[in-house]
Amino acid sequence: MDERTLHIRKAADYIRSIIGDRTPEVGIILGSGLGKLGDSIENPTVIPYRDIPDFPVSTAIGHKGNFIIGTISGHTVIAMQGRFHFYEGYPMDKVTIAVRTMKCLGAEYLFVSNAAGTCNPDFHTGDLMVIRDHINMMNNPLIGPNFNDFGPRFLDMTCAYDADMRQLAFDCASDMGLTLREGVYLAGTGPTYETPSEVRFYRLIGADALGMSTVPEVIVARHCGMKVFGVSVITNECNFDSGSSEFNDGDDVVKKADKAAATLSGLFQNIISRLPQNGSRG
Ligand code: HPA
Repeated sequence: MDERTLHIRKAADYIRSIIGDRTPEVGIILGSGLGKLGDSIENPTVIPYRDIPDFPVSTAIGHKGNFIIGTISGHTVIAMQGRFHFYEGYPMDKVTIAVRTMKCLGAEYLFVSNAAGTCNPDFHTGDLMVIRDHINMMNNPLIGPNFNDFGPRFLDMTCAYDADMRQLAFDCASDMGLTLREGVYLAGTGPTYETPSEVRFYRLIGADALGMSTVPEVIVARHCGMKVFGVSVITNECNFDSGSSEFNDGDDVVKKADKAAATLSGLFQNIISRLPQNGSRG
C-alpha cells in the first residue's frame, strides 16, 4: 500500500479505536474563529490531533487542533476544530490528511467553513457566503502519484459544490429568517493578505471572497467522492485602494468570525438535521 495511505489508515484506526462503532456521516471543517461551532455537537468525544499517530498539529491563530465526534440532530458527525494551512509550511498531503481520514471513517459529506475577505462591493463584513465555486491560486493537492485507493487521476471539478446542498442551505436560511450570499471563493497561499492590485485582479476574474484555505480540502473531498457544502464568513472588506487606512489584521479576522460562529452553527445544524439518515439522499 502507498505509504501516504498507510498514514491515513493509521490515523483512522486510532480514531476508530476510541469511537468504537459510531460511523460519522458528515465531516465538518471549522475555520478561523469558528471552532466554537463544535459546542453544538452532542455527546462529544474530543480527540486532540497531537494524540493521533503521525498527524500534523495546527499552529494558526483561532485554530484549536481537535477532532470532535458526536451527533447533530441524530446524525453522527466528525468536526475538525482547526485545520492545516499550506502557509504553515505543511505539504499538501498533510494539509488534506484529515479529509481522507474522515472519508475512511465513513463520512460521505464535507461541510467546510472559513473566514474570508470580500472583494465584491455588494458584500459586507458579517455576511455568510455559500460557496458556489472556487478559483485555485494555490498548489493542487492532487499533484504527485495518484491516490488510487481514493479516486481518479484526472478529476472533474464542474460541480465541486453540491447544487442540492446549496439549495437546501437557502431553504433552511429562509426558514431561519437569515440572509445568505452566494459566490466564488478564491484561495491564495497566504500568509500575506492581498495588495490592492491583487484585489482588483481577483475581482476582475470573478472572485467574491478571498482566503487562504478550503480549496485543497474540497479538491481532495471531491477526489474521494464526498458531497461538499461550503460557507465563507466575511470578516473584512478588501482594500481596492492603496491609500486606505483600513489595514488587514489577523486577530480582527478571528474576532469577526467568532461573532458569526453562532449563526453559522445554527445553519449547519439545520442543514444536517434535514439530511437523510445513513448518508443516502432521498
Ligand atoms: N484575504 C485572504 N484571506 C483572508 C482574508 C483576506 O482579506 N480575510 C480572512 N482571510
